[in-house]
Amino acid sequence: MSESGDAKPAASEKKRGEQPDRMERIVNLCKRRGLVFQSSEIYGGLASCWDYGPIGVELKRNVKDAWWRAMVWSRGDVVGLDCSILAHPRVWEASGHVAGFTDPLVDCKKCKQRFRADHLGQLACPEKPGKHPGECGGELTESRQFNLMFKTFMGPVEDDAAVVFMRPETAQGMFVNFDNVLETQRRKLPFGIAQTGKSFRNEITPGNFLFRTREFEQMEMEYFVKPGEEGRWYEYWKQERFDWYVKLGIKAENLRLREHEKDELAHYAAGCADVEYKFPFGWSELEGIASRTDFDLKQHAKWSGKDLSYFDEESRERYVPYVIEPAAGADRATLAFLVDSYDEDEVEGEARVVLRLHPRLAPVKAAVFPLLRKGGHPEKAQEIYTNLRPHFPVQYDQAGSIGRRYRRQDEIGTPFGVTVDHQTIEDGTVTLRDRDKTSQERVHESDLLAELLRRIAG
Ligand code: GAP
Repeated sequence: MSESGDAKPAASEKKRGEQPDRMERIVNLCKRRGLVFQSSEIYGGLASCWDYGPIGVELKRNVKDAWWRAMVWSRGDVVGLDCSILAHPRVWEASGHVAGFTDPLVDCKKCKQRFRADHLGQLACPEKPGKHPGECGGELTESRQFNLMFKTFMGPVEDDAAVVFMRPETAQGMFVNFDNVLETQRRKLPFGIAQTGKSFRNEITPGNFLFRTREFEQMEMEYFVKPGEEGRWYEYWKQERFDWYVKLGIKAENLRLREHEKDELAHYAAGCADVEYKFPFGWSELEGIASRTDFDLKQHAKWSGKDLSYFDEESRERYVPYVIEPAAGADRATLAFLVDSYDEDEVEGEARVVLRLHPRLAPVKAAVFPLLRKGGHPEKAQEIYTNLRPHFPVQYDQAGSIGRRYRRQDEIGTPFGVTVDHQTIEDGTVTLRDRDKTSQERVHESDLLAELLRRIAG
């Protein structure tokens, strides 16, 4: 819940000192190359909703897979879950979302725009961008609390008894399944439950492309620990999560850990830190790591009547576990990887745009090119393309000069280019081009798959 009422500006909002050019160029690239499209574009678009295109869907999927690999597969102490988006309405009463998942809202009577009352100092007036809202002569209404949860009705009857909420976070599904996981998986503390999935928040001021939207995907993990051990695990998870972004290629100087001030903390939290990224619009939250105490399990025990305590075989004590929660956003992480990898340079006197994505994250892993459209090159290249395809996304391209074909792949971050030339026909070797070094070396086609898999794993 740390995003609601966070003390930092809603990044959507136009801030002073941002770098709109870079952001604009990235948004344009996303559209031009099929990474991200405006939702319902042919109808004029739906504000702050985005569709991932054929290239973008691979990138986001790779981000989520990398998260799952780090948080679940490669550890012995975390299991996964996939909960429904709709839950019993009492879940959201117990969690505090019905009463407290609100942002303070003001309207400008002149331009009819809405603003976060707690962000006015960082916002620009839409009509007079040099001024803050309310300083432009427009009168602001009194601030009022606005609940961010989307409501809908379950079943055919639209009355209060049928109201359900679209989940505003994935976390609660893990708390309400704590006992199911404990019992069926025979877990001992400390252990975690991880989940990725859609969440919905009726944000007052969404924006900045994928950064703040009303429908987004989260990657959250609830790590249950013995009370008293939460301090150690809090420190551990802050470092783990910071390192995850660095290992996947984000420059460490563009990341920082920011500990929340006491007055920023949610009432249940003993501590919270954000991993922040230096976006073109300023330092903003990528992920929050919260020390949530035993608040959630105790609340659900109280509201549901189900005992959610844990019996510790070693100490022969019964207690309610404490929780450390690293909560990330898949879309926000995807945006950070895009922004950080975006580069413009020159190769052999020609300007190029390149996404220097980690090979694990790259949407397309390799592209296969016949040097010429004759001499058996296309047939050989097709054969190699067909053989690589079951293993990872590959593209085949024979249109235009080889330089232009490389440029097209650089723009979507394809790390490896495989070219079939006259020597391939003679000795079975192809050239393997590295996107970042732009160097080429010859590899025998029988070693190609193993070599690519080795390089993709990084
Ligand atoms: N369970 C805790 C929780 O939900 P949060 O800080 O509100 O914490 C976690 O959300 C992460 O989800 C954020 O760090 C961000 O990456 C992502 N997120 C939250 N609101 C978002 C929005 N409106 N659009 C895109 N991503 C969002």
